[in-house]
Amino acid sequence: MQRPEAITRIAQIRSDLHRHNYLYYVRAEPEISDHEFDTLLKELEALELQYPDLITEDSPTQQVGSDIVGDFQTEKHQRPMLSLGNTYNAEELREFDARIRKALEIDSVVYSCELKIDGLAISLHYEYGQLVKAITRGDGVQGDVVTENVKTLRSLPPKLNAGAPQKFEIRGEIFMHRKGFERLNEERAAAGQALYANPRNVASGSLKTKDSREVAKRPLDIGLYHYYGDDQSFPSHSQGLQEASRWGLPVPETSQLCEGIDAVIDFLQKWEIDRHDLSFDTDGVVVKVDSIAQQEELGFTAKVPRWAIAYKFPTETAQTLLRGISYQVGRTGAITPVAELEPVLLLGTTVKRASLHNSNEMQRLDIRVGDRVYVEKGGEIIPKIIGVVLEARNPNTPEQPFITHCPECETPLVRAEGEAQHYCPNQRHCPPQVVGKLEHFIGRKAMDIQSVGSEMCETLYRADLVKNVADFYDLSESDILKLERMGEKSATNIIKGIADSKLQAFERVLFALGIRFVGETVAKKLAYAFGDIEALSKADSEALIAVDEIGERIAESVIRYFEDPESQELIERLSAHGLILKAEKQEAKGDELAGKTIVISGVFEIHSRDDLKAMVEAHGGKIGSGVSAKTSFLLAGSGIGPSKLAKAETLGVPLLSETEFLALLPI
Ligand code: IVH
Repeated sequence: MQRPEAITRIAQIRSDLHRHNYLYYVRAEPEISDHEFDTLLKELEALELQYPDLITEDSPTQQVGSDIVGDFQTEKHQRPMLSLGNTYNAEELREFDARIRKALEIDSVVYSCELKIDGLAISLHYEYGQLVKAITRGDGVQGDVVTENVKTLRSLPPKLNAGAPQKFEIRGEIFMHRKGFERLNEERAAAGQALYANPRNVASGSLKTKDSREVAKRPLDIGLYHYYGDDQSFPSHSQGLQEASRWGLPVPETSQLCEGIDAVIDFLQKWEIDRHDLSFDTDGVVVKVDSIAQQEELGFTAKVPRWAIAYKFPTETAQTLLRGISYQVGRTGAITPVAELEPVLLLGTTVKRASLHNSNEMQRLDIRVGDRVYVEKGGEIIPKIIGVVLEARNPNTPEQPFITHCPECETPLVRAEGEAQHYCPNQRHCPPQVVGKLEHFIGRKAMDIQSVGSEMCETLYRADLVKNVADFYDLSESDILKLERMGEKSATNIIKGIADSKLQAFERVLFALGIRFVGETVAKKLAYAFGDIEALSKADSEALIAVDEIGERIAESVIRYFEDPESQELIERLSAHGLILKAEKQEAKGDELAGKTIVISGVFEIHSRDDLKAMVEAHGGKIGSGVSAKTSFLLAGSGIGPSKLAKAETLGVPLLSETEFLALLPI
């Protein structure tokens, strides 16, 4: 490329890469795949190699991205947190191996092969068996201190087993299992909140949440992959990790030592298939020279270690025709545009459809029916449209406007300011939304009617038997028997399950109603605060906001729900069917702890932390989030953080063990 052209191209790539780094690390909403990112980066590197005088300090080739958000204290890493070079094929891996063998002057290398977990890198510091600091990768040099949030991870033990060195650092990846991710999204859907795009985004968003209690509710996990001993080191990388696992730390069991590059390639090929059976997403394999002496000999380039490389599982891109765009209505009323494609073969499966997410994405791609488009697919990842072949567009192709009315019920769509998604506001009568409400009602945490199930909700709705949740209680066995493939036994079972649900407590019924923003916890708070549905339905904004953790948004949604005559009728019918619409008085068991604020921390032997919290509240006490001068006492379990203990001591807050606490309450 000629110099003037190179100057503009370099500027363009740099600005694109800066933007994509920001989207990936800070917003956790990447717009392009890792492969596309790497391709751009490689192009930039090649241009800079050709014109080295054009390299600037802030060029993305000289930096790593940053995930620092500004809400946390930042701290410098003891050693920089580097990224890895990427390869996308076995050929490049063989070249990597050849370079290493040449540099070390040996014939065969022992590699540690590990699954590359797709999450968020974290550095943990342990002292005397306790986690004292957790820092995100940040820009590689310094990161956010998120210790309290990381402490909430259930797979990290509050105290390490004997044998752990007094002081060491260990690094790993925080991630979310697919199941946990799906559950979280179901809960968000029920609360009418926007859904997360993928587990990586949630893991990253969760860690950057200011309130660790919120973080504790997220099903996050961690896999550790790099040990740095300050006062105890091991001759190999794998031994360090093996020891860490003995101390009680979560080290993935999928790692394997492979002698020679052929064994490494066997490992990749095995996992390229078997990864679909894992409970979490992995986007590749990290291959590391196992011997620490050899690692030291190989050293680092400016950005990455020479002794390790990431192999990314393949993605494939193809071109095809966009035949049309259809629109799906989700359970929450969210409208998703879907590209209907001329079928195309990608990584062994035929792709016919791909999500276009929302109208912003359609605009960004400037996608039009009749266009030729690039489709990409990588393993289990849903196929994605990454661009339009603009050269192939017929100049007369009209722009693609977003639909204005719901394809299911024809209600005009709405889009809240600042939101990407369009919604159908017809919550009560739009078919997929009604079925969604029915499914939510029978859910495990709501009325828990296991004999019905999601599919049955759909069937009952289509058969005109159940149009709202009160209709469940009007069903008879003969109604069910009219449905296809339904025997007497199943009919009896379904009716019994529905009848049994009438015994569910008020807070569950309240949650089951699916009032926007009223999740499980909020339902409990409202149920206990107002006692029955009558009082709750009459509560004004002020009374609602006076309840702990209820803000304006929830208050408004509750008021709007009860104002609606259809809700009133529904509740009357549920009441006539004998559902429990009154909180059981057993909640308040006494007032032994009235006026006391209690902080609970650590792991307990007899009761779970949640049970202890419930006991405090049932006996008139309040739960405090952090130790302060107002704390009456600290209920301390094992593994409680040293900083909390120190604070309690300074403020003269007494410490109670679990048994001492239980002794305060009547039997
Ligand atoms: S080693 C110098 N091992 O991938 C060592 N990284 O592209 C650098 N990752 O920032 C990291 N699994 O977030 C390593 N088994 C593994 C990994 C892993 C996932 C992530 C990590 C790192 C990125 C590098």
